[in-house]
Amino acid sequence: MRRETCIEHLIGLKKPAIKECASHFAPVNIALVKYWGKRDALLNLPNTSSLSLTLSLGTHTKLATTDECDKVVLNGVTQTNTSQMYTRTCRFLDLFRLPGLYFEVDTVNEIPTGAGLASSASGFAALVLCLDDLFGWNLDKKQLSIIARLASGSASRSLYRGFVQWHKGIQEDGMDSFAEAINTSWPELCMGMQIVCSDKKPIDSRAAMQQTLETSHLYQKWPDQVACDLVKVREALTTKDFTLLGKTSEHNALSMHATMLSSLPSVMYFLPESCAAMHKVWQLRKEGLEVYFTMDAGPNLKILCLEKDRATLQKELPALEFVPPLF
Ligand code: PMV
Repeated sequence: MRRETCIEHLIGLKKPAIKECASHFAPVNIALVKYWGKRDALLNLPNTSSLSLTLSLGTHTKLATTDECDKVVLNGVTQTNTSQMYTRTCRFLDLFRLPGLYFEVDTVNEIPTGAGLASSASGFAALVLCLDDLFGWNLDKKQLSIIARLASGSASRSLYRGFVQWHKGIQEDGMDSFAEAINTSWPELCMGMQIVCSDKKPIDSRAAMQQTLETSHLYQKWPDQVACDLVKVREALTTKDFTLLGKTSEHNALSMHATMLSSLPSVMYFLPESCAAMHKVWQLRKEGLEVYFTMDAGPNLKILCLEKDRATLQKELPALEFVPPLF
């Protein structure tokens, strides 16, 4: 009931003005300071704040009402009612269900699904935008980010462009755990995807986070590191210090993976190709090219560089797919 109470808090007094359907796009976001570990698993309340960069790819979703039964279509394929995508989507939609009302969700991801490329963040953010439109709530982004957080933590950051900070909050009901945009732009900043494998990951982030929290002795140090890293990245954004931004983001990502590696059983998202790409980045850096990486719950790397080095980097890493940030 605690999730329902949150929704009640945000939309309780609003009379639903139901439309037949709504369509929205939401972008993916890549965390530069990661969210890893929850203080409340039901409400997706994080142990730490986090900070991300929004990219120009994402998810297009159409949400329609029906009086038959729920239907979820992902990239043109109807999902069976036992699939993870179907159950996760419908369980979230249950929070907004009126008697006799069912939903048809038709969603298209511009990025591979479930491969650590943030498709659940853009997917649930797009769904929340559709819900706001369909029910005529007219909530502001901060309120929508709280609703998106209930579906997937990182989705709270996909309601905004540019750099975004998700504040961890301290309240039990999570009403102070929302994302907001950081008022700064950085047009010279480039991010590329080094996709080494687009398969669905072997363990999802929810289960991996929980396992880390429960069994990794290194995790105790994680909240303190995140607090320091957030200060450094905020400073880097203010002063446009790319070295500070890159170093801090890379270190933050590797530290997150170190907490996973030290859990029992160990969680390892790296593939041999991921490690090869990391070594390549380090070698390029040694040779004087300013390039850094970050990595999420999947084997693919996201590479950071400045516009002036983009062409050189593309030659060194021909498979790198640049995705412009969305400012
Ligand atoms: O929101 P989730 O449950 O998909 O978790 C996201 C976790 C990371 O991508 C690894 C880090 C982050 O902050 O996005």
